[in-house]
Amino acid sequence: MSSIDRTSPTVAAKTASVTPASAMTTVGANASGASPAAEPVMALDDVSVYYGDVEAVRNVSMPIRHNQITAMIGPSGCGKSTVLRSLNRMNDLIAGARVTGTITYHDQDIYAPNVDPIQVRRHIGMVFQKANPFPKSIYDNVAYGPRLNGVKRGLDDIVEEALTGAALWDEVKDKLKTSGLALSGGQQQRLCIARTIAVKPEVILMDEPCSALDPIATSKIEELMYQLAADYTIVIVTHNMQQAARVSHYTSFFTAEVDDAGVRHGRLVEFDDTSKIFTNPSEQRTEDYITGRFG
Ligand SMILES: Nc1ncnc2c1ncn2[C@@H]1O[C@H](COP(=O)(O)OP(=O)(O)OP(=O)(O)O)[C@@H](O)[C@H]1O
Ligand SMILES: [Mg+2]
Repeated sequence: MSSIDRTSPTVAAKTASVTPASAMTTVGANASGASPAAEPVMALDDVSVYYGDVEAVRNVSMPIRHNQITAMIGPSGCGKSTVLRSLNRMNDLIAGARVTGTITYHDQDIYAPNVDPIQVRRHIGMVFQKANPFPKSIYDNVAYGPRLNGVKRGLDDIVEEALTGAALWDEVKDKLKTSGLALSGGQQQRLCIARTIAVKPEVILMDEPCSALDPIATSKIEELMYQLAADYTIVIVTHNMQQAARVSHYTSFFTAEVDDAGVRHGRLVEFDDTSKIFTNPSEQRTEDYITGRFG
């Protein structure tokens, strides 16, 4: 296996329901409900992540389901970003970072020795906390990935499609040659989403994509996430409990535990349907966190 194959999603997974953004109002509403029919696109099995000798996150097992939004919540330092980065091998870029256990994408181990991390990131893209457009035009930002992949023809259509998919086309269609850096923060984040979807990944990882945005820009991105979930599988890290409750189908709650030796590790406390996590969690620690009693 020298590259990651993308097998066709099943029909059952394709029918995963997505609720219109207008239904995203109250905490715990998650009216769409998680789709039990959605098969996992990815799976973490007993995953631990180390920085040097320090085990930052210990023994995480959870599925990432097709065309569903999975939220990762928990207090600062519990390892959310660490786990998120492990899903597309971004941790490879951090000296001393190491992953044990197994992370599969369509049943293929993404850390197998013959798997190319660049290929992994083509299928599993990432949007960062702070919008990071390249100092290039809006057009060139979006065309960057396809060009890197050798696409020469049809770029105009790809750029338009990606900007439309990121709900930015109408705002920028008359100034595609303008620098991406000249856009507002919320527009820049949507430009980064357009840049990510231009290479047609299957999974999009988002690490607190709204934390630098005002409420209006945030609601635009949340609405966009809902639209994107029709075509993409999304994993989002968020500190915003209402956001997790509003947008996600599944939620994983992480916390940091101190073991007998006095060492702190991030642990996955509970993974379940978002509606269950926010209305009737199985673990007291989850309840304490979502009700603001701890963390
Ligand atoms: N590049 C790194 N090198 C060494 N240790 C790191 C690195 N990145 C994170 N850590 C450590 O790993 C643990 C988990 O950090 P991580 O950034 O994943 O937490 P987080 O849940 O995303 O926190 P936050 O909500 O503040 O973003 C922390 O103890 C942190 O200090
Ligand atoms: Mg983080």
